[in-house]
Amino acid sequence: MTAYNRQVRVGFIGAGGFISAHHLLTVRDSGIMEIRAIADIDEARLAKHAANMPIGYTTTDYKKLLADPEIDLIVIGTKQDLHAQFIVESLDAGKWVLCEKPMAETAAETQAVLTAEARNPGRLAIGFNRRFAPAYADAKRLLRDVPRPWYINYRLMYPNPGKRKGFYADQPRMLYEGCHILDLACWLLDERPRRVFMTGDPFLNNCCILDYPDGSQLSFLCGSMGSVCLWKEYMEVFGGWTGITVSDFVDMRVRGFPGERDRVYAPYMGEHAKEIQRFGFDFYEQYKVHAFQQTNPGYAEAYGMDLVPVQRPVAAPFDVTDYKHETPDLWGFTPDKGWIPAVEHFAQCFLDGTTPDNADGKAGALATDLALALLESLESGQAVETET
Ligand SMILES: NC(=O)c1ccc[n+]([C@@H]2O[C@H](COP(=O)([O-])OP(=O)(O)OC[C@H]3O[C@@H](n4cnc5c(N)ncnc54)[C@H](O)[C@@H]3O)[C@@H](O)[C@H]2O)c1
Repeated sequence: MTAYNRQVRVGFIGAGGFISAHHLLTVRDSGIMEIRAIADIDEARLAKHAANMPIGYTTTDYKKLLADPEIDLIVIGTKQDLHAQFIVESLDAGKWVLCEKPMAETAAETQAVLTAEARNPGRLAIGFNRRFAPAYADAKRLLRDVPRPWYINYRLMYPNPGKRKGFYADQPRMLYEGCHILDLACWLLDERPRRVFMTGDPFLNNCCILDYPDGSQLSFLCGSMGSVCLWKEYMEVFGGWTGITVSDFVDMRVRGFPGERDRVYAPYMGEHAKEIQRFGFDFYEQYKVHAFQQTNPGYAEAYGMDLVPVQRPVAAPFDVTDYKHETPDLWGFTPDKGWIPAVEHFAQCFLDGTTPDNADGKAGALATDLALALLESLESGQAVETET
């Protein structure tokens, strides 16, 4: 039974780099949502958005959105220092709220969000979009009946020298980016770890172990080294006599599951899906570097990197230089990490009056708690027991 026979009216608080390339486009192109308003303190950014897409209105005062009865759902896309405050204010204003990650930076902020979530009817979703990445959703389905414990190995490693200055310079990557994988592992396992351990440096590069009550383990390498020519994320899950690997959300190898076969997944917005179906992950890997060179001129020189095209031992039956970037709205060529379905699903639940599968306040709290526990472990040199 549909509760509303109309579009979901969305208001954005903070529409900078990420929101402009993702959630704003999702809402603009959605059949069930419309952009009612954007609040941002950057007037030039507001003018650009207003010139490029249909928007009810723009404002530099986010409180106008909270007071607007014609806004159903607020998307919070500021940096993390404002997340908890804006979540609390938006929930208290009677809105449904989708906030980018991390949900909160401290235990006190987490508590304030959970209390606001409990006292309001509006639902809260945290931007842990990997739960909706087609490859990971399939992995979770395949693993459903696999006996525990599972051993998960996750690598999130990609140089992001831009984050060594400005807002992120003194922020631990484990909190602002590692939180995605902490959520993913707990979602896959449907459990929270009993203790955690981390080594490495305070901000950028870390090795972690999360130990779960059923014996499952996450080994997680999270860092900012390496080459932009090597894809960023890799997951492998082992349980019983089965194994699944997923390379950058695109190439999934499925072993030990009778009747199942390996798959490839279309990148974000389907860009070059045809070629990936035809040539496999080799095309994705080689084209990604080519696309990076096209969409980031001067980047390599600025940071003293060598952008060396991928040279596989067997010659490819294609020439990546024949292919072009197809979606100018986007930063560049990127895999499908579930951004669109995460937002669409949340809006659909608003219309249907159903409970969303997105990460809620409890899941957002867990990811922050775990990141903080890992940082405590780094400082003490000891494993840290977590509350179960
Ligand atoms: N889910 C993902 O895959 C993913 C990827 C990248 C970034 N993110 C998240 O997106 C968020 C934004 O990151 P970004 O890189 O786009 O940052 P950004 O700085 O480019 O954008 C933030 C925007 O918020 C605006 N803002 C700041 N204070 C405001 C206020 N008081 N009222 C209204 N607007 C205000 C800024 O002017 C800016 O336009 C972060 O939380 C980040 O972690 C998520």
